[in-house]
Amino acid sequence: MPKQNVVENRFGQLQKHIWALRKRFLICLAATGMLCLASTLLPAANDHSSSSSVAPDIAVKIGAVSTSPGASALGVQFIDGSSSSVIVNRNGRKYFIDLANHTVREVESPKLIPGPHLQKTALVNSNANNAQLGAKIFEEKCSMCHGKDGKGMKAVGTPDFTSSKVQASLTKETIINIIKHGKKGTLMPAWEGKLSNDEIVAVGSFVKSLGSGDSVPQRAAATAARENDKVYTPADDFLYSLPTGRRLDRHGFYVNFTHRFAFDPAFSGKARGATLLGLDGFSVASFGLRYGITDKLSVSAYRSPSVIGRPIELMAAYHLLDEHDRYPFNATFRFSVDGQANFSKNFTTNLEGIFSRSLFKRAQMYFVPTVSLQNRRLIVTPTLEDAPPDLPGINSFSLGVGGAFDIRPSVALIAEVIPTLVNGRALGIHRPAYAFGIQKRLWRHAFALGFSNSPGTVVSQRAGTRATFLGDASADTPSGLFIGFDLMRQMY
Ligand code: HEC
Repeated sequence: MPKQNVVENRFGQLQKHIWALRKRFLICLAATGMLCLASTLLPAANDHSSSSSVAPDIAVKIGAVSTSPGASALGVQFIDGSSSSVIVNRNGRKYFIDLANHTVREVESPKLIPGPHLQKTALVNSNANNAQLGAKIFEEKCSMCHGKDGKGMKAVGTPDFTSSKVQASLTKETIINIIKHGKKGTLMPAWEGKLSNDEIVAVGSFVKSLGSGDSVPQRAAATAARENDKVYTPADDFLYSLPTGRRLDRHGFYVNFTHRFAFDPAFSGKARGATLLGLDGFSVASFGLRYGITDKLSVSAYRSPSVIGRPIELMAAYHLLDEHDRYPFNATFRFSVDGQANFSKNFTTNLEGIFSRSLFKRAQMYFVPTVSLQNRRLIVTPTLEDAPPDLPGINSFSLGVGGAFDIRPSVALIAEVIPTLVNGRALGIHRPAYAFGIQKRLWRHAFALGFSNSPGTVVSQRAGTRATFLGDASADTPSGLFIGFDLMRQMY
C-alpha cells in the first residue's frame, strides 16, 4: 500500500474513534474536575478545624493593613496597595506570603537558620562582617515589613529609618530594646530568643546606620539585595516540554496536565480561525502526578494517551544544586522508565541532566542532555483497541536548550529546541523538535500556551516530531506548527 494511503487509512480509523476517545476524555476531565474540587474542599476543612486556635491571634491592630472580616476569621490580612502579598496568621505565627514569587517567609521564626553564606559571616567577628551580618538579617527578617532599603512601607505602617527625624527619636538602646521586645499592639514582633543577642545588636546597629549614611552596611545590603535579584524562580516543572528541574516543596503534591493538538496545524489548511487555531481539534492529552519526598528528592508518574502508544512513565528526580542556595547554577538529575501499552511493552530508560542558570532575576537558560536507551520511533496508534506495535529499540541522545524571559512579574515568554544528536535519523527525526509560547504564573499554579512541532511530552517522546508521528515529511515545516497548552497545579 502506498504511504499516502496508509496515512489516510490511519486517519479514517482515527476519525471513527474520535467519538469514543472524546467520551474517554470527558470521563478523564470529570475525574480531574473532581480531584480539583476535592483539593479545594480538603484544605478548607482543615482550616475550619484549626480556626478556633487561630482566631485569638488575629486581633492585631496595624497601621493601614486592611482586614476583611471573612479573611480575618481565617487569619489572613490583606496589605493595601499590594495585589501579590498577604500576611497569614497561623497558630500564633505570622507568615508573609509573596504570591507572584511563590515564597512564604515566616515573620516570626523560632530561630534563625543561617545559610552557608551567613554561617561563614557569623564566625568572623570584624566590624565589617558584623555590619554585613546586620544587613543580611535585616534583609531576611525585617525587609518584608520595613522595606529592602529600610525606608518603611506605608501599607504596614513602618517608619522611614533613613529619615533623620525618625533616627533622632531613636537611640541605639531604644532600637535594640524594641527589637528585643517588639511593640505591643503593632505588627512589630519581639525577636528575643529568636535572634541571638549578637544578632540583635548587629541588626540594631544596621538600623541605626541607615540614618548616618554609613557606607559599609548600606553597600552590604545593596549587595545582598542584588544577589537575590539575580535568581529566577521557574513557574512550572515544564518549560513547554522540557523540564525546568526546579526544586519542589517537601511533601508538595503536583499535577501536570498537557494538551498537544498535533493533528491540526494552527496556521495552515482551511479556515483555521473557525477551529480556534486547532484548539477544538483532537488533542494528545497527558496527565501526571509529582510528589516531593524531600525538597530535593521527588518521584512522579505520568501517562500519555493511546493514540501516542499509551506510555506510562515512572520517574525519580534529585535536585542537587540551587542558585537560591548561592550555587552558580541549578542542577537536577532524573531517572525514568516508560513503557507503552500501560507499561507493558516497548520500554525506554532515560537519564537526564537538567542544568539551568539565571541570566538575571527575570530570565533563565536551560540545558537538558538526555540519554534514552531503547527509544522508539514516534507513531500514531490508530485505534483504541490496538496495542502499539512492537518497535525496535534505538539508543539516542538529545540536547534540549530553552529559555524563559519574564515580560511581566507573572508572565514569561518561553522557547525551546530539542535536537536529537545521536540516532535522530534512525528514529525518523529529521528536524529538531521546538516550541515557543507564553506562560502565566499564579501562586502554585501555572498555565502555558504555545506552538510546537512535537506531540510527545514523556521524556523519550518529546524529541520526536509531528512528521515522524503522522508519517508525513512535510508536517514539520513551520506551517505545520500546532497549538498546545500545559496546566500545572500544586495541590498541597
Ligand atoms: C511583620 C512586620 C514587621 C517585621 C517582620 C519587623 N518589623 Fe519592625 N516594626 C513593624 C511595625 C509595624 C513597626 C511600627 C510600629 C509602630 O510604632 O507603630 C515597627 C517598628 C520597628 C522599630 C521602631 C521604630 C520606631 O520608630 O519606633 C524598630 C527599631 C524595628 N521595627 C526594627 C525591626 C527589625 C530590626 C526587624 C527585623 C529583625 C523588624 N523590625 C521586623 C513591623 C515589623
